[in-house]
Amino acid sequence: MTKSKVHYICGSCGASHLRWAGRCSTCQEWNTLEEVVIRDASVFRTSAGPGHSEKPTVVDSVHFVTNNLNASIFPTGLIEFDRALGGGITPGSVTLVGGEPGIGKSTLLSQLLSNVALSGVPVLYVSAEESDNQVASRIHRVSGKEVSVGILTANNVLDIEGQVRNYKPAVVVIDSIQTIADPELASSPGSVVQVRECAARLIELAKASDIALVLVGHVTKDGSLAGPRVLEHLVDTVAYFEGDRDSSLRVLRVIKHRFGPVGDLGMFEMGESGLEDLIDATALHLVDRVSGQSGSVVFPAMDGRRVLLCEIQALVVSTSAEQPRRVVTGIDFNRFLLLLAVLEKKAGIKLHNKDVFVSIAGGVKITDPSADLAVLLAIVSSLKDSPVDPTLVCIGEIGLGGEIRLAAGEKQRLQEAVRMGFTRAVVGAKSGSEVDGQQIIKASGLSSALVAASLHFE
Ligand code: TYD
Ligand code: MG
Repeated sequence: MTKSKVHYICGSCGASHLRWAGRCSTCQEWNTLEEVVIRDASVFRTSAGPGHSEKPTVVDSVHFVTNNLNASIFPTGLIEFDRALGGGITPGSVTLVGGEPGIGKSTLLSQLLSNVALSGVPVLYVSAEESDNQVASRIHRVSGKEVSVGILTANNVLDIEGQVRNYKPAVVVIDSIQTIADPELASSPGSVVQVRECAARLIELAKASDIALVLVGHVTKDGSLAGPRVLEHLVDTVAYFEGDRDSSLRVLRVIKHRFGPVGDLGMFEMGESGLEDLIDATALHLVDRVSGQSGSVVFPAMDGRRVLLCEIQALVVSTSAEQPRRVVTGIDFNRFLLLLAVLEKKAGIKLHNKDVFVSIAGGVKITDPSADLAVLLAIVSSLKDSPVDPTLVCIGEIGLGGEIRLAAGEKQRLQEAVRMGFTRAVVGAKSGSEVDGQQIIKASGLSSALVAASLHFE
């Protein structure tokens, strides 16, 4: 028997609720719940109408497959995309690429399709947002050569299905899932119902025809479109394309992947003719660093499984104001206050008559507590007006007792640091890391770390 249930799905986070409310209790967004009727058919029993006994369905054959998934992954030739996805894309897989409008999703996927097309594979770019000419000129701009990419401008999912069946591409990009619609559904394009139903139809087609399908999903802050998160559980791979409008750096972050590990990043630079792979981005944020300045310490941060060296800068200046200023960018303010308290209590360094500013160069944001030691050393270096050794990095979370804790991925961070010329490192006493070509100084506490960095007060 088929029953119908009414659910209310949040267009922002995809959470399902039994009752309507003005605000989603999961993501706290307002006015995002939308009514969805879900037909719930019994799948465990066969029921062919009156007179038939309800027997469980019998599975008459079981197929065994050999574990050769990797063999079917094919590289797209876009090095950083392949890196983020563990080697490339898989036929019959569905990848969702989400991101804010204007971040470069269409550019990335135009490049991906032109690269794949160069190897003679049939590909199709379905655009519901732009004209044929706009899509073609972007593909031309990013590929720089003759490529054969099928372009379809359509917003009716039934037309798209028909064209895909005719054209038989191996890779299809749908740009974007929120602008296509099934005319048989009453909801408007971009609504939860349309986005889920259209995606489900296309996913079924991709699985049945062994097509690698890439869905583009816009992320909008105002919740005017159903967010890509409502699709996250339907697809095999979820990647978000991120970046700052003011910077040309773009990062592809994979948060779900059925065909490989998650956590690796693809890094790109947006340029005149599309995205360039940033294969070696380790020292990217240090390009403007002036070595030998006081108040500057290098910290090997980790994003996913990638090490990025960051410059932590501090400025400490005298003030006669009753309330000295405390200003930070890129690190957590409360954590910073805690570090100042530890510095006073455990190293006897008082800053009550000083303004203290801390920032991470290049607009980087760090949430990793193992940056603590670098933050404190930068502050003391500025206070003493004494530069730290320009070949020094430091890693360690500071405990309330002034102890230095071991950081996750320490060895990998140190190896990347030495590769970039940082031949000395201050770490916690429990560290077991040994790295060729690097002098590793194990400090049991804050005071010994200050001595190791020649920042102690006599
Ligand atoms: P786009 O891919 O259209 O973004 P999205 O699909 O995520 O909305 O790219 C938008 C921006 O990228 C646009 O401001 C122009 C810029 N851009 C370049 O800088 N270089 C290029 O080669 C291309 C194609 C775009
Ligand atoms: Mg676009």
